[in-house]
Amino acid sequence: MNSKLLGRRAYSVPQSDCRIRLDANESPINAMEEYREEIKELVLQTALNRYPQEDNAELRQAFARYAGIPADCVIAGNGSDELIGLLIACAVNNDERLMLIEPDFSMYQLYAETYEKQLVCCRRPVGSRLTPEFLIEQLERERPALLLLSNPASPFADVLSKDEVLCLARAADKTGTLLAVDEAYMDFADQSVLAEVPNIPNLVVLRTFSKAWGLAALRIGFMIAPAALAERLDAFRPPYNIGTLNQKIACLMLNRPEHLQTSVRRIVEQRDQLAAALQEYAKLPGIKKIWPSVTNFIYIEIEEDFPLYEELQKRSILVRHLPGAIRLTVGTAEENAAVLAAMREIGGAYAERN
Ligand SMILES: Cc1ncc(COP(=O)(O)O)c(C=O)c1O
Repeated sequence: MNSKLLGRRAYSVPQSDCRIRLDANESPINAMEEYREEIKELVLQTALNRYPQEDNAELRQAFARYAGIPADCVIAGNGSDELIGLLIACAVNNDERLMLIEPDFSMYQLYAETYEKQLVCCRRPVGSRLTPEFLIEQLERERPALLLLSNPASPFADVLSKDEVLCLARAADKTGTLLAVDEAYMDFADQSVLAEVPNIPNLVVLRTFSKAWGLAALRIGFMIAPAALAERLDAFRPPYNIGTLNQKIACLMLNRPEHLQTSVRRIVEQRDQLAAALQEYAKLPGIKKIWPSVTNFIYIEIEEDFPLYEELQKRSILVRHLPGAIRLTVGTAEENAAVLAAMREIGGAYAERN
């Protein structure tokens, strides 16, 4: 065993039997309800004794058509997680550095450790928005081989504009940096740089089907890179990395983009209602700040001694617990109402004590 990795603990997801799970930024909409018959037909037609298509060609083509980019710019992965790992493993030499923002999606750091990369973590200015000026300053100082960040940002739910990311890509080009933008939540926002990737040699975008598409069970993600880079990165992808059934269902859904549009509309509607209702809590003693959101989750900064996470869990509601904060996924109208009612009760008890 690699001794540097001995203390490592697995990515932990609380095993919980909570009635309401709003901890993983999944979609509350299950496509199976609408597409049951078509999916059933796909399953019945599948030769289970055969390996999947090795190069994921049909899936890559379907995504490329949907996104309006060439298929040779697309790599398909077993969730975008797999592709994040592949990118970190391959795009940074041992004598080069990987730059991450802190905090950001926790898997970035885990992969950096796994592949023993030299890591530069830039702490995001407390309580404020990430700016291209801040990032460019860090790039010029550290000159990393790769800068990887989520946009919209995890866990804050804000977004750099398309122009800001393009400006960052130009600055990254000057410092010899590959800029990788994880657009896991960009289906909820409208600032994607995906369409620009084929023309910008140092820009890579990651996308997932686990969030707005509501297909987390399939484990489907994409990395979009300029064709020459995509070809080189794809050489490191494990063979047959996506099961045939998953590929087929993902292709079916890509040919039903109206599913995504409807889901996004419904979730954004719920998010806006939830965010408006939460404003009522913004001045309660336990709550420090409720961040505005362009995604399907809301970041709520709380006092260290406010047991919001624990009290929600006692009421069978699971959210994501972060240092000094909770991250709340937007659920169904009923789930959101249950969270609001629970918060009212928990906040009231905390206010009485303080
Ligand atoms: C920013 C970000 N990127 C990537 C992922 C992982 O996506 P996938 O399910 O495609 O592996 C997540 C999941 O929570 C995420 O928040």
